[in-house]
Amino acid sequence: MPNIDPLTLTGTGVAGVQIPQIGLGTWPHTGQESTDMVAMAIDNGYRHIDTAQKYGNEDAVGKAVRKASVPRDELFVTTKLTNEFFGDAATVRAGIEYSLRETGLDYLDLMLIHWPNPWLKNYVQTCASLAELVDTGLIRAWGVSNFTPEHLQAVAVAGLDIPINQIQVDPLAGQPDYLAANAQHGIIVSAYSPTGRDLTLSDFPALREAAERHGKTEHQIVLRWHVQQGRIAVPRSANAKRQRENLDVFDFELSDAEITAINALDDGSRARLDADEYGH
Ligand SMILES: NC(=O)c1ccc[n+]([C@@H]2O[C@H](COP(=O)([O-])OP(=O)(O)OC[C@H]3O[C@@H](n4cnc5c(N)ncnc54)[C@H](OP(=O)(O)O)[C@@H]3O)[C@@H](O)[C@H]2O)c1
Repeated sequence: MPNIDPLTLTGTGVAGVQIPQIGLGTWPHTGQESTDMVAMAIDNGYRHIDTAQKYGNEDAVGKAVRKASVPRDELFVTTKLTNEFFGDAATVRAGIEYSLRETGLDYLDLMLIHWPNPWLKNYVQTCASLAELVDTGLIRAWGVSNFTPEHLQAVAVAGLDIPINQIQVDPLAGQPDYLAANAQHGIIVSAYSPTGRDLTLSDFPALREAAERHGKTEHQIVLRWHVQQGRIAVPRSANAKRQRENLDVFDFELSDAEITAINALDDGSRARLDADEYGH
């Protein structure tokens, strides 16, 4: 049977927090459109929602979470810290409190450092601050996003174990060396833009043929490819049918040959944005 259990986050300050493997991406929707999308997703069975301070939709996402008929402790809310809140524990705490005010929630399940912003020279300190702040109960877990192997190594050298790294992974930008570096550090990868955003997935025989064999769509094949290899994925859809489709990936299993064929689609491309040059 495929594994439909959530994954467990562990790392410095994080003793074991369950995270659902499929979450709803919310960028770039804001306002009422975002609230409606998240409310619809929760009705469709989503229990993990991915937002960020920079998306300008924490308020809209929080509204849907607060109004949901599903109890708060059955929902998992991820948000992401922007660099104005990087630094010592007091500064990072102000960032957490900002997100709590925006969402109107009492706590956040996961706070990620959105981008390392290496030129600020304080992402390692910010990791330490987040790990320390788990004790406050304002966040249940912490992690990073867009960290390259070099950034991961710098955090490891400081003696900190990162629970999760959200990076761009799709069949063309498979980034096997990045996945290997995360695995080496025992870090769970969360894939953003997990279906390639604007890719026409049916163009690729490995995906089309697997979809035909399993009676699934190409999007479901790609999401299954993520979860079967132990990744979180946060596909975004504002459409009810496609939201349900993206969650319905736990009743079939790809063969090793199918996984290998999808891995072979990797064309060596990196994430759209270079974390050593871009950030906020
Ligand atoms: N950490 C970071 O720096 C970072 C960066 C980028 C993104 N993210 C997160 O990752 C999330 C997802 O990434 P993304 O939005 O770039 O890309 P994505 O989820 O790979 O693709 C979204 C696009 O796919 C369409 N779609 C979704 N399900 C589909 C299906 N079953 N069949 C056909 N089309 C489908 C959506 O359209 P419809 O809405 O019409 O279905 C939308 O146009 C974002 O929303 C955000 O939360 C994080």
